Amino acid sequence: MKAIKKNAQITGSSSHKSRSFSEILEAATSRRVVLQGGVGLAVLGVFGRPLTLKAQDNGDPDATEPLMNFTPVTVANAATQRNWPLISEDYEYELLFPWGDPILPDGPVFAHPPSPDDQAQQVGVGHDGMWYFPHPEDFPAETDEDDSDDDGSTDDDPTPEELEQLRNSRGVLVINHEFGSNSRVLGEDLPLSLDDVRTSQHAHGVSVVNIERIDGKWQIVEGDNARRIHVNTPVTFSGPAAEHDLLKNRDEYEPEGTLNNCANGYTPWNTYLTCEENFHQYFSEAPYSAENSRYGLSYTSGDSYGWFRRDSRFQLSSPFYRNEANRFGWVVEIDPHDSSQVPVKHTSLGRLKHEGAAVAVGLDKRVVVYMGDDSQNEYIYKFVGEESYEDIIARGESPLASGKLYVARFNEDFTGEWVELTIENDDLASEFDDQADLLVHARMAGDEVGATKMDRPEWITVAHDEQVYCALTNNSSRSETDSANPEAPNVYGHIIRWKDSEMHTGTTFEWNIFKLASETQTTEEMFGSPDGLWADPDGRLFIETDGTQGGVTDSRTICNQLLVADTNTGEIRRLFTGVDGCEITGIAFTPDQKTMFINVQHPGTGNYESSQSEQEFPGFDGPNVPRDCTVVITRKDGGIVGS
Ligand code: FEO
Ligand code: CA
Ligand code: CA
Ligand code: CA
Repeated sequence: MKAIKKNAQITGSSSHKSRSFSEILEAATSRRVVLQGGVGLAVLGVFGRPLTLKAQDNGDPDATEPLMNFTPVTVANAATQRNWPLISEDYEYELLFPWGDPILPDGPVFAHPPSPDDQAQQVGVGHDGMWYFPHPEDFPAETDEDDSDDDGSTDDDPTPEELEQLRNSRGVLVINHEFGSNSRVLGEDLPLSLDDVRTSQHAHGVSVVNIERIDGKWQIVEGDNARRIHVNTPVTFSGPAAEHDLLKNRDEYEPEGTLNNCANGYTPWNTYLTCEENFHQYFSEAPYSAENSRYGLSYTSGDSYGWFRRDSRFQLSSPFYRNEANRFGWVVEIDPHDSSQVPVKHTSLGRLKHEGAAVAVGLDKRVVVYMGDDSQNEYIYKFVGEESYEDIIARGESPLASGKLYVARFNEDFTGEWVELTIENDDLASEFDDQADLLVHARMAGDEVGATKMDRPEWITVAHDEQVYCALTNNSSRSETDSANPEAPNVYGHIIRWKDSEMHTGTTFEWNIFKLASETQTTEEMFGSPDGLWADPDGRLFIETDGTQGGVTDSRTICNQLLVADTNTGEIRRLFTGVDGCEITGIAFTPDQKTMFINVQHPGTGNYESSQSEQEFPGFDGPNVPRDCTVVITRKDGGIVGS
């Protein structure tokens, strides 16, 4: 590592070369987005609904109505249908934007393999985390309280009821594209040209698409904010490591791109967070070092994509790109409403194999972000902002640019501590040059302070009662148990939950295990390898899976699935099952919770050739290749999804 000056600024704010956050905000506010009003955000929360609402307050006349009132898909039915999804008889679904659909209605139609230019205008591959943002103009205009009898509206302005209807039937969906094998994307095992590499790179990243329900069917519609962000899109950095040598390649500083975009987050100020997970898979010829080794970067780690053979940016032996891998493994903030915003990588949140970023508003309106690092025996982290996010937003900065990073230690007695990962911590001061060095190597900071090694932390979600849930998907390498990871090996995974002191901002917590998937194996609640999670404002927990489901007997083996849990009773019901080879991931809702979006990722074998005869799903026009796609789920009676 380079010798670096010791007084790095922990609280350094972003130094964007391009558009500043204040400019982004100004643009957003001019579109009447509820960003700076304070009241609007405090009341509506991140979900556009009062956060404390219970089911019975939500227009439900029967206050004793159970949280779940649907007929689950049975194990027996799911075990006999593997080539097409199954959904509860009380629900229906439609399919939306498979990989390769244009992000604008008049964009290039899907051909296989796509050209680099076409793919950059089309929905990417490997659909994963996502979120739905209503359009700012579909919220009521802020009224002048001193002039309440004349709010300036005209008869042509939509009524509050019409606006609510608009918010729930048109909006922006931002969706991650985690990965796509060469055999699927290119129809060949390795890229044969730089064009092949570009197609693969353009299939990664994020899609921002406008969608609307027209004549009862959701579809992609026009909008200036639509865009693709991929591996070659300009990005910028914020926070202590932003201008650091560790993020520079030789003399230039022009960071580009995001990749392996796994799960996500969304903020109270209406931005989207995309999280970079297994970035090591794209870099080759990494010289041996403790740092590279700790992040899985090796001489051969990028062999399967093979980008480095045509694009030396992914060749870490190149003197020009020795630090390129340090630019990945971050949480990236995106404005869904402004295609000119340059995505910001927030170094204060640490560099790891980020699964997702679950945002809560804590004491004093400080923003809190919970994050899992999804590899075997890795850690759970949280970021806590320095002051009210509203004050920071009012200054034109991102509340994610500065704050403290912590890592979790789970004690055997069901208490825990969040250990501060700052250079002020004496255990860390001797190991790292400065705060930037620490954040770029956050995993190694976690090692130094004895963080608890977990069974692959996947999604985290914050429930209405301040309980935080985390999916620990499985861990074949665990040999010794602890009470937070009680099975060795952990074949089926589990869901842990905790509650922090001081409304998310404290440094202690109490925890317990919500569900051990092994205990469901012989029941109708059967699931394994929990991955996607989302807690709704009423007490339901949505669980998505990525791994073997069942297997106690062949007749109980089913495809990956979406389940709903009642967090009060622990009951679980199966809502949806996917198709062979896929995982179910990604969760988004309209504000009224009556439309849910999920993703079927990597359906089929993932191989273009074998797909010709074997794979029909999702059955869109065009080349018969398995295509990741989004599934829109509604209740037949128009009720809240999950109920
Ligand atoms: Fe991208 Fe850990 O799932
Ligand atoms: Ca995945
Ligand atoms: Ca996942
Ligand atoms: Ca997974």
